[in-house]
Amino acid sequence: MSEAFAHRGGVLRAEGVSVEALARRHGTPLYVTSLGHFLERYRRLDRAFAGIPHRVFFSMKANANLGLLAALAREGCGFDIVSGGELHRLRAVGADPAGVLFAGVGKTDAEMEAAARAGILMFNIESWPEAEALERVARRLGRRVRADFRINPDVRAGAHAKISTAHKASKFGLPYHQAPDLFRRARALRHLDVTGIHLHIGSQITEVAPFVAAAKRAVELVRVLRAQGHRVTTLNLGGGLGIDYAGERPATPEAYAAALRPVLEGADLELFLEPGRFLVGNAGVLVCRVLYVKETRWKDFVIVDAAMNDLIRPSLYEAWHGILPVRPRPGARRRRVDVVGPVCESGDYLAQDRLLSVPEPGDLLAVRSAGAYGMVMASNYNQRGRAAEVLVSGARHWVTRRRETWDDLLRGESVPEELRLAPAARGKRVRP
Ligand code: LLP
Repeated sequence: MSEAFAHRGGVLRAEGVSVEALARRHGTPLYVTSLGHFLERYRRLDRAFAGIPHRVFFSMKANANLGLLAALAREGCGFDIVSGGELHRLRAVGADPAGVLFAGVGKTDAEMEAAARAGILMFNIESWPEAEALERVARRLGRRVRADFRINPDVRAGAHAKISTAHKASKFGLPYHQAPDLFRRARALRHLDVTGIHLHIGSQITEVAPFVAAAKRAVELVRVLRAQGHRVTTLNLGGGLGIDYAGERPATPEAYAAALRPVLEGADLELFLEPGRFLVGNAGVLVCRVLYVKETRWKDFVIVDAAMNDLIRPSLYEAWHGILPVRPRPGARRRRVDVVGPVCESGDYLAQDRLLSVPEPGDLLAVRSAGAYGMVMASNYNQRGRAAEVLVSGARHWVTRRRETWDDLLRGESVPEELRLAPAARGKRVRP
């Protein structure tokens, strides 16, 4: 698989474009994403499953960049959504709702109604009360909607407790043993057509074994359900395929497909996949500029202009992201440093105790593997505007999102009339 980001001619390039030139032109912090890498990953995954009836749904919570969504919609890929807001974004790019799955433990009536009206493919139901709520919504609209139940196979997988989802004490899914009862009760819900099983065992899983174990449990369950007279046509295995952050060697899509093939052989199920990170994680970097280098007796800090509000993964999950100099300085001294941002939190770091060639103020650094759960988790903490985003394809690039301005940070807010400062008092000290 081609590397989207590589040093050529002394400078980091995103496909054919100099990252240094992008940073100069569009400022930092800057998310730079390779469209080529993203589409190549999608096509490779899709190809690996050739011969197994399947459909791929991009889990857009990983990256909701409009350019990426549009490009993927053109490829005919579907989407896995978790909110009305995500559906709205898909509609903004003209993606076909008939290729959309709606997951999540807390769908509201309004969200379910919007999705049902749009004519999405399927709802992934995560609790019995949700099934009843969806039935009410569908009845009111006079429609029948398709659904599956998200079952919890009680398989432990995932790189970090916060992204491990399928053990039995997780808020996600329904207990495995309840499935027959749920399918039976769902027959009384006349506006639901429950035809599948959904599961998602966790994220950043680098081996095939947990997927195979979960798929086997699901296929067993389908047999039981069919024996009870239920029609089950789809098995959604969720996302979770891992990527290389720190030298991991995650299972390839071909290995994943080869391991699942025997499990699915003869099962007469259409396989749904919901990859997020696998498609987009290594398609993006976060480019930042070094502001200061602070050396102390205990620790050295490289202070950059990106922070936890731009990329929260290191702070939240102790995630390890590679850090590359955009223009390496041959011969620079190497030291262990913390790469930190300007946010007022000791948890605000992009890397800790990292052996790096010590940069100079003004140098550019690229934080690797920032394409998944990067920009989508950005916030305005410390009243920092969110970064700009650039999409690269070959030698071309487009700004798909401009940098937020300070005025953007005030959008939608107001001071209550009674608390407003009289014009004469503005900018004056209230108490002398
Ligand atoms: N399907 C379902 C039902 C999910 O809950 C998720 C992710 C996916 C698919 C996509 O999973 P992926 O292929 O990306 O592993 N913010 C965390 C990851 C949270 C994942 C949430 N669910 C992180 O930065 O690691």
